Amino acid sequence: GLYKTHPQYAKRLHKVVRRLVPTCDVRFLLSLETLREVRNKMRTELEYGLKRETQANATVKMLPTYVRGTPDGTEKGKFLALDLGGTNFRVLLVKIKSGRRRSVQMYNKIFAIPLEIMQGTGEELFDHIVQCIADFLEYMGIKGARLPLGFTFSFPCRQASIDKGTLVGWTKGFKATDCEGEDVVDMLREAIRRRNEFDLDIVAVVNDTVGTMMTCGYEDPNCEIGLIAGTGSNVCYMEDMKNIEIVEGNEGKMCINTEWGAFGDNGCIDNIRTKYDKEVDEGSLNPGKQRYEKMTSGMYLGEIVRQILIDLTKQGLLFRGHISESLMKRGIFETKFLSQIESDRLALLQVRRILQQLGLDSTCEDSIIVKEVCGVVSQRAAQLCGAGLAAIVEKKRENRGVERLQITVGVDGTLYKLHPHFSRVLQETVKELAPQCDVTFMLSEDGSGKGAALITAVAKRLHNVGQK
Ligand code: GLC
Repeated sequence: GLYKTHPQYAKRLHKVVRRLVPTCDVRFLLSLETLREVRNKMRTELEYGLKRETQANATVKMLPTYVRGTPDGTEKGKFLALDLGGTNFRVLLVKIKSGRRRSVQMYNKIFAIPLEIMQGTGEELFDHIVQCIADFLEYMGIKGARLPLGFTFSFPCRQASIDKGTLVGWTKGFKATDCEGEDVVDMLREAIRRRNEFDLDIVAVVNDTVGTMMTCGYEDPNCEIGLIAGTGSNVCYMEDMKNIEIVEGNEGKMCINTEWGAFGDNGCIDNIRTKYDKEVDEGSLNPGKQRYEKMTSGMYLGEIVRQILIDLTKQGLLFRGHISESLMKRGIFETKFLSQIESDRLALLQVRRILQQLGLDSTCEDSIIVKEVCGVVSQRAAQLCGAGLAAIVEKKRENRGVERLQITVGVDGTLYKLHPHFSRVLQETVKELAPQCDVTFMLSEDGSGKGAALITAVAKRLHNVGQK
């Protein structure tokens, strides 16, 4: 009430918070200069990943995807797609029509992957996936059809062709044993064989960024970048073959999955990491890894907020100095709560109600502080992500050798789509840090499913892969 009706009241409180915040080592407000530095460092790391001598030790891995072009509208057929690694696990049936009545129809089913399976053995994980496929085929009444399948597997994979992908390492919430260093397509094929109930023709393994780029590329040929700002954070883009030193050939382009989430794993952005970032990292499934991702993606932003709130409470600045059980629970602040808390339309009373639902008994002042903390954390995330993207578009501009670049970025991910400010701040940052590029952001509609099907269609047409 007071917060809304009395402008001075809100302003004064914000000021108090801002004054408090720097004393608590919250170096969250990044200057333009710092962001430029981040952009330049990202650029350096991108180059390391592409060069033959440096790529083996590069932190940003720049993985070739063997996707050589965006779709041209002639793709058609019926495909299955799997989507593993985002917020949900899904199985999809995708029907693509070409020609004048070009269209994409999709049917999908969401399945839960229980924690004990995400973090159990690889065999259990893949058996579970095949169980879900069986349910879906049954449900759709297509168990006998041996459909071509595109597997969206949103983790770093080293590929030697479009239908092979060796898992480099798990990221986000996954940690199944005996998978790292293995070909995920083989693991899927073996699980299908173990079940011995149906057969599938696995044609492509696809990162979600690539699926997103392809989906938007289907509508807009100028789309040569795919961005995910969701549970994880990553980018892919079309790179000139001549710059990809570890792949034979100099003609045309190939899509590179940057795996930029690992940016900073060599310590190059330690100067901007706060003690809260370090705590989040240490409490994660993969300490020391994916440092940039841990500052920019949905899976971790809530955790950073939680660490700050714990610290402020310890200092007696919040929740009357009382650390509740809920505040000690990892993962309570999901992206959807952060998004609600930061929504401008939400009255403070409602923020308070959300916090109460989360088990955090807060006063009105507490709510203001929590909202401010969420604000600085998500703003920093969007700016850092924008600085990274500025490095990518700037590289594309130089590749083309043009004064000005017009380019479209296909985007997906819960953080980008649900958060009230993230997308705007990201876009503003790119504009500021890559002033010679006109970047259009295009929301992808179900990039992981549709994109996998499109890539599968292109792969079938071009190489006739699969069919083993
Ligand atoms: C993680 C994965 C990456 C994926 C991203 C978004 O960073 O390593 O492959 O694209 O999350 O889901």
